[in-house]
Amino acid sequence: MAKTRTSYVCNQCRTSYNKWAGRCDNCGEWNSLEEQSEGSGIGATPIKGASKGRRIELVPLHGDIVEAPRYKTGISEFDRVAGGGIVPGSALLVGGDPGIGKSTLLLQVAAKLADSGKRVVYISGEEAIAQVRMRAERLKIQNSAVELGAETNLSNIIATLDDPTKPKPALVIIDSIQTMWSDNLDSPPGTVSQVRTSSQTLIRYAKAHNVAVILVGHVTKDGQIAGPRVIEHMVDAVLYFEGERGHQYRILRGVKNRFGATDEIGVFEMTGLGLAEVTNPSELFLGDRDGQTPGAAVFAGMEGTRPLLVEIQALVAETSLATPRRAVVGWDSSRLAMILAVLDAHCGLGLSKHDVYLNVAGGLKIKEPAADMAVAAALISSISQKPLPKGTIIFGEIALSGATRNPSQSAARLKEAEKLGFSQAIIANLHQKKPKNEQKGAKNGQKTAENEQKMGLKVAEVNHLMDLVAKLAANMT
Ligand code: TYD
Ligand code: MG
Repeated sequence: MAKTRTSYVCNQCRTSYNKWAGRCDNCGEWNSLEEQSEGSGIGATPIKGASKGRRIELVPLHGDIVEAPRYKTGISEFDRVAGGGIVPGSALLVGGDPGIGKSTLLLQVAAKLADSGKRVVYISGEEAIAQVRMRAERLKIQNSAVELGAETNLSNIIATLDDPTKPKPALVIIDSIQTMWSDNLDSPPGTVSQVRTSSQTLIRYAKAHNVAVILVGHVTKDGQIAGPRVIEHMVDAVLYFEGERGHQYRILRGVKNRFGATDEIGVFEMTGLGLAEVTNPSELFLGDRDGQTPGAAVFAGMEGTRPLLVEIQALVAETSLATPRRAVVGWDSSRLAMILAVLDAHCGLGLSKHDVYLNVAGGLKIKEPAADMAVAAALISSISQKPLPKGTIIFGEIALSGATRNPSQSAARLKEAEKLGFSQAIIANLHQKKPKNEQKGAKNGQKTAENEQKMGLKVAEVNHLMDLVAKLAANMT
């Protein structure tokens, strides 16, 4: 009989120790070591009852592929982010801050799928039946055939799902994974070992019975799904539901998907009747801007396959502090530092005695470097206290040398701007030499840009940040 060894693992940084200690030597966290018996870790081979093993069939790379069928929920903003619908037997993690609207979204998804004739089970570990019913009433979906349970014990949940008198559900929603606990473990719910064991059990169930499961996970303050990302790699897809509490917009963002693209976003608006889909997000993020405020520039961005116009706001003010303040909401602060340095080094716009605040309107988070030129334009406009030319969109990446570069999908960005009534675009030079693999795309972009010009959108091209500064100085009202 194999000997069971016990080790202690830090639930923050996963460092393993032979002895328990009050503080993890590696990350310095207090009281984070958890007992773990060998074999319970991911990837660890169970020692008990290990047999000689069975030979598996090895196959060639080519062969028949069965395209995974998908359950379309009919909430297209959700389906798109999930890669075109929920794949049967797959496990999905929906993470987000408490109160952002995860339960609301998933109850709506559950009801839609149940309405299409699928069996959907919704297990709430956080709220009592009455609370979920109240939410359903508010959302006006109380008559859908969703089967509701309030339970946190994993064995009870599996036993319920395994009921031989009923067909297997198409989808099971577990809200949330942090409330689930397995009686095989001593640690309390919410700890890494509980979250991991519960997820493993549910995912195994999902794969074995071809049942899709959606796990809801709360995100901690530092942006990690509590139980430091332990379940992210176990599931097939990870979606984050994000947004600012004060704003009504919510964004569902795919960060991992084994069955589809990950850069898609779904945009929702939280209303009194639950989450409403926003089919034209650009209109929403541009809001009711008057276009005459200094320090505001409209960036034509891409979120996956969708163009998205957003306003970037900058405020530059002289500082009385020794170290000026730099505050960024919705963009990368080191990227801002870089743009400021380039403006200083190549354009002589010294901002070392100025506080700089940067904000992306609508609570959106932009990750694209293509926003560089729009950020620079907003900064220049704020310093000079002159608004940018009316009806202008800007995009393009800025190198440390100050040279500008067009991002991918320029044509789609220009088209969206045109559609929303913009009259001018300031972008990097479309005729510049591109890396070999992008030359074809550049040609297409060039052609389309010319077409756009014909259609009414004036495209102004700049080669260097200095050109942008000069162009803005000449054009600003
Ligand atoms: P909830 O789905 O409970 O969030 P989570 O599960 O992520 O913790 O949503 C909570 C918030 O949503 C709450 O502050 C109330 C608001 N809300 C609405 O504005 N309209 C609605 O129709 C519903 C159901 C909730
Ligand atoms: Mg909830």
